[in-house]
Amino acid sequence: MTFEEKDIIYPPLHPGTDRTFIRFYDGELDLNSIFYAGEKDSLPQRIFVTDTSVAALPVMHSFIDFFRGEDFSHPKIEAGFTGKRGKDVLLILGAGETFKTIESVLAIVKAALDNNGQRSAVFVGIGGGVITDMTAFAASIFKRGAHCELVPTTLLSMVDAAVGGKTGCDFDSYKNMIGSFFPAQKIHICPSFIESLSEREYRSGMAELVKTALLYEPEFFERIEKNPEALNDRKGALIKEGIRICVNAKAKVVEQDLTEKNIRMQLNLGHTFGHALESMSGLGVVAHGDGVAWGMARAADLSQRLGLCTKEYAKRVKNFLASFGWETEPVHPAMKEKYASDEEIAKVLVNAMKKDKKNSSDRIRFILQENIGETVITEVPEEDILAVLK
Ligand SMILES: NC(=O)c1ccc[n+]([C@@H]2O[C@H](COP(=O)([O-])OP(=O)(O)OC[C@H]3O[C@@H](n4cnc5c(N)ncnc54)[C@H](O)[C@@H]3O)[C@@H](O)[C@H]2O)c1
Repeated sequence: MTFEEKDIIYPPLHPGTDRTFIRFYDGELDLNSIFYAGEKDSLPQRIFVTDTSVAALPVMHSFIDFFRGEDFSHPKIEAGFTGKRGKDVLLILGAGETFKTIESVLAIVKAALDNNGQRSAVFVGIGGGVITDMTAFAASIFKRGAHCELVPTTLLSMVDAAVGGKTGCDFDSYKNMIGSFFPAQKIHICPSFIESLSEREYRSGMAELVKTALLYEPEFFERIEKNPEALNDRKGALIKEGIRICVNAKAKVVEQDLTEKNIRMQLNLGHTFGHALESMSGLGVVAHGDGVAWGMARAADLSQRLGLCTKEYAKRVKNFLASFGWETEPVHPAMKEKYASDEEIAKVLVNAMKKDKKNSSDRIRFILQENIGETVITEVPEEDILAVLK
């Protein structure tokens, strides 16, 4: 048998997605000055997307009022609201993971289409990871690829979701099953947004921050380990420094491996367990970061079981996570409420992990650690996984 081969070589996909500018702002964010400075006529059309909770924040009022029309005829902004400011559009979606659906993504696409959006339009997601993931996804599929800028407003989206170009939505009750790689051209990070987060959401973001410290920043980890309380000061210098450290660490990883062929997989520490928990407890029941924190405790136990790390290291990680109030026990309380036995819970979780898109075969792949900063990626037999889930 003979054959011929031919390569087709393409320039980088999507003009403008080869580079991301990240700006860190001090003080309160002024969206009007970010997006409406300069010559009006030279500005591209923007499709702004946010959710009802973010739209209700006082810091958003002066921006949103421009989209409500002269008569301010919408006393309360509800999900589905669309408003115009010149050629720009603002769409407000429902808040939270349950709205991370293909229908919401299509609503963004429709808002752009209904307003004569072109491929040159910039889709701007202002919100947590749900909004930034969906807005960037909509930008990536709109007319085969428009442009994207992000304003992350949760700690989680600042340190993780908005950075690195993973976009998408949930589908068929599984997390992030539909999506694309589509890096934003600009990310505007304003730490003061975290002051209004609920305790649950703040802690959720902290889990990703802790994850990044465990993976890449041993010195920072030791500092927060000595004084975890300091991270609770949302106006403090430590959390601002933590945000920068995490963004830079993630940027370094995604620069080398945008489409997660190798080292980017490390960023999924705690996620295989965490995503299974999020999916099987019912999307939205366990916050993403809380799932990741529990997943990091399970990964520590699994690392110990496989002889990768010492008992002391696994204990150190779990004690640290527990000091933030995160669940570290094998059976998560949210699962106990839903399933009859620990046995059933473990099986349900393993089945969900098998569907994880990160697996290369039937075997489930985990990110495990030998120590802080020493990470291994390995496939693990089912019996070992079951053993750390009950
Ligand atoms: N793309 C990636 O690389 C990546 C990485 C990690 C997580 N994610 C995704 O991110 C999502 C989770 O993100 P999240 O935790 O930001 O959730 P989220 O977007 O649902 O935000 C949580 C809640 O906080 C509200 N909120 C947002 N900003 C606020 C503020 N400043 N003050 C008060 N309330 C505010 C939101 O309206 C929402 O109700 C998940 O869907 C996850 O899959 C993506």
